[in-house]
Amino acid sequence: MTIVERSATDALVERDEPLAQLHKAFGDAAAGRGRLILVSGEAGVGKTSLVRRFCDELPAGTTVLWGGCDALATPRPLGPFLEIAESSHAGFPGAALGPWSASHDVAATLLERGACREALVVVVEDVHWADEGTLDVVRLLARKTESTSSLVIVTYRDDELARDHPLRIALGDVSTAAAVERLPVRPLSRDGVARLADQLGANVDTAWHLTSGNPFYVTELLAYGAGHVPATVRDLVLARMAQLGPQATAVVEATSIAPPALDAGLLLAVCGEAADSVDECLASGILQSGEGGVSFRHELSRAAVEESLSPA
Ligand SMILES: Nc1ncnc2c1ncn2[C@@H]1O[C@H](COP(=O)(O)OP(=O)(O)OP(=O)(O)O)[C@@H](O)[C@H]1O
Ligand SMILES: [Mg+2]
Repeated sequence: MTIVERSATDALVERDEPLAQLHKAFGDAAAGRGRLILVSGEAGVGKTSLVRRFCDELPAGTTVLWGGCDALATPRPLGPFLEIAESSHAGFPGAALGPWSASHDVAATLLERGACREALVVVVEDVHWADEGTLDVVRLLARKTESTSSLVIVTYRDDELARDHPLRIALGDVSTAAAVERLPVRPLSRDGVARLADQLGANVDTAWHLTSGNPFYVTELLAYGAGHVPATVRDLVLARMAQLGPQATAVVEATSIAPPALDAGLLLAVCGEAADSVDECLASGILQSGEGGVSFRHELSRAAVEESLSPA
């Protein structure tokens, strides 16, 4: 039984190797050596697209249980698993599960299902937004899934994890479990960007300069044209900025008008005390630190912030 709708996705660029890793892990799971794969990468790098494509390629009849976390101020307890349980076709004993359930009951239900049936794929998306209960389920699955026929795929953004983010602690806890594998999803190379740009007759140099290979930025740019910042990109960047304190906001704004990078001396001269908030900017994923100082991870996000400073 397949739960996820099979979609006719467009060709994915430069994803043969990660797809091969997922298929290999599925083969292991089908042979009774369950795996848990941590699929990580920056926002928009293509985690969901990769996992959806993999699920589309699974043998007909494979059961895929798919649930995700949402960007809520108060995360829904066990949100991804309730989503799975609520799916009318899931064949998952949802009646037994609710926000009141204990993490070990959820994990036990999934493990039981993985142990007694044909290969099972469980996808838990966006755990950077997970509640503690969901992270506990992931911990339990990481430790116990090896003796089942389950492939558990967990995705998360790794560009906005502050040092004390609960997911960091969970990742540390599961890192030594034998069933756990990592699958970092990388931005596209310049050639990859060229392939996408060619399809739409866009300028490759501009697309590469503005996006640094982030497929979300590339596809939005190609859809809206390079003349201005796409509204979707602006919203993403400004939503992230809205979570920063006033001093970190000042650092990001100053960096946006000093391309390509703001060095330590200039940062202090322009921002004064606020320069101390640079770590918050780095942890948010908006800025990165390099030889020349701090800079935006993507030129397009810099342009979005700079544009937001301009009088309308
Ligand atoms: N390898 C690829 N080739 C072509 N287009 C891609 C590729 N990967 C992703 N895309 C496109 O980029 C956009 C963002 O992809 P996706 O939603 O999978 O990113 P994500 O990493 O899941 O982002 P988020 O962190 O926001 O969940 C989508 O429009 C998708 O079609
Ligand atoms: Mg996604």
